[in-house]
Amino acid sequence: MTESLQDIAQAMVAPGKGLLAADESSGTIKKRFDTIDVESTEGNRRDYREMLFRTSPEMSDHISGVILFDETIRQKAADGTPLTQIIRDAGAIPGIKVDLGAKDLPRSSGEKVTEGLDGLRDRLAEYYDLGARFAKWRAVIDIGREGNRSVPSPYCIKTNTHALARYAALCQEAGIVPIVEPEVLMDGDHDATRCYQVTQATLKSLYAELYEQRVALEGTILKPNMIVSGKLCPTQASPEEVAEKTLKCFAHTVPAAVPGIVFLSGGQSDMDATIHLNAINQLKNTSTAYPWALSFSYGRALQTAPLHAWRGTSANVPAGQKAFAHRARMNGLAATGSWSADIEKQNA
Ligand code: 13P
Repeated sequence: MTESLQDIAQAMVAPGKGLLAADESSGTIKKRFDTIDVESTEGNRRDYREMLFRTSPEMSDHISGVILFDETIRQKAADGTPLTQIIRDAGAIPGIKVDLGAKDLPRSSGEKVTEGLDGLRDRLAEYYDLGARFAKWRAVIDIGREGNRSVPSPYCIKTNTHALARYAALCQEAGIVPIVEPEVLMDGDHDATRCYQVTQATLKSLYAELYEQRVALEGTILKPNMIVSGKLCPTQASPEEVAEKTLKCFAHTVPAAVPGIVFLSGGQSDMDATIHLNAINQLKNTSTAYPWALSFSYGRALQTAPLHAWRGTSANVPAGQKAFAHRARMNGLAATGSWSADIEKQNA
C-alpha cells in the first residue's frame, strides 16, 4: 500500500517524537570522529550508526524517523541486516539527505547556494526503492558580522528558496515527503531581533516559491532554526524570548497547512536545544494560534553525548546507547512541553 505524503508527514511529527539527523556527509562525520580520536572508516561509521539505531526502546518511543547519508542507506549491520530494516523494525521511517552541499554563490560576498538539482529525479526514484519516504535539503543563510550587514542579500535568499522549492516538487512527484531546511546560521554577532528579521524574510520567500512551484504543503515538513542570538552576541536571548520570537515569526510566515516544524540544533548545546524546544511547546500549549506540531530534528544535540560515550570501542556501546536514550527521552518530553530540569537530573 502506498502511504500518502500527508500520512508520512504526520507520522514524522507524532506527539512526543522527532527526527534523528544522522546524515553527516563524509567530511562532517570525519570532523565529529576527530573529536574522539576515531578514524572515519566505513566500518566505524557503520558501527556508530548501528549503535544509535539499535537503542531500545527509545528509538521506538521518541524517534519517528532517521535522516541518512547516501552511504548509510545502502549499508548493512555487522549481522547482515540492512540499517534501513533496523530503523523500520524500531517503528521509525528512513529518510535521506539529497542535497550535494552548500557551494559558493557566484558574484556574492562569500554567500552560499545549495547544489544537487541535476539528476535529482533519478536519485529520488532510487532512494524510494531503497526505502526512503522522506528527504532533506539544507540551504544555508549567513548573517553578516558588524561591517557586513548587507549579508544575506535578497539574491542569496531567492536562489536558495527557489532551489528548495524545485527539490520539494521533485520529492512529491516521487512519493517522498520533502523536509525543507532553510538554516539561518547562528555563528555571527547579531542579536535575536536580527535573526528574526532574516528568518522572516527567508520563510516569506520560501513559502512564495513553494506556492509558485505547486508544492502541496500538507505533504511537507519545515526544518528551521529557532530565533536565537548569534553565538558571538554579548546579550543572549532568554528561553522565554526565544520561544516568543520563534512562534511570532512562524505565525507571520508559515501556513497552517504545514503539518509540522522540526528544529535543527545548529550549534546550540544539548541542554539549550532541549530547554528552547520545551519553552516553545509550553508557549504553544497556551494558545490555538500555533497549529503545527513543533518537534526536533537534531544532529549534534542528540549525538554529541553518545559519540563521546562510545569513543569507537565496542565495549562502550551500552554507554553510548544510554546517552542517546537519555537525550531522545528528554527531547521527546520537550516536544510536548513536559520536560523539566528535575526530570533531566533524575533520568541522567
Ligand atoms: P544539527 O542539529 O547538528 O544542526 O544538525 C541538524 C541537521 O540536519 C542540519 O542539516
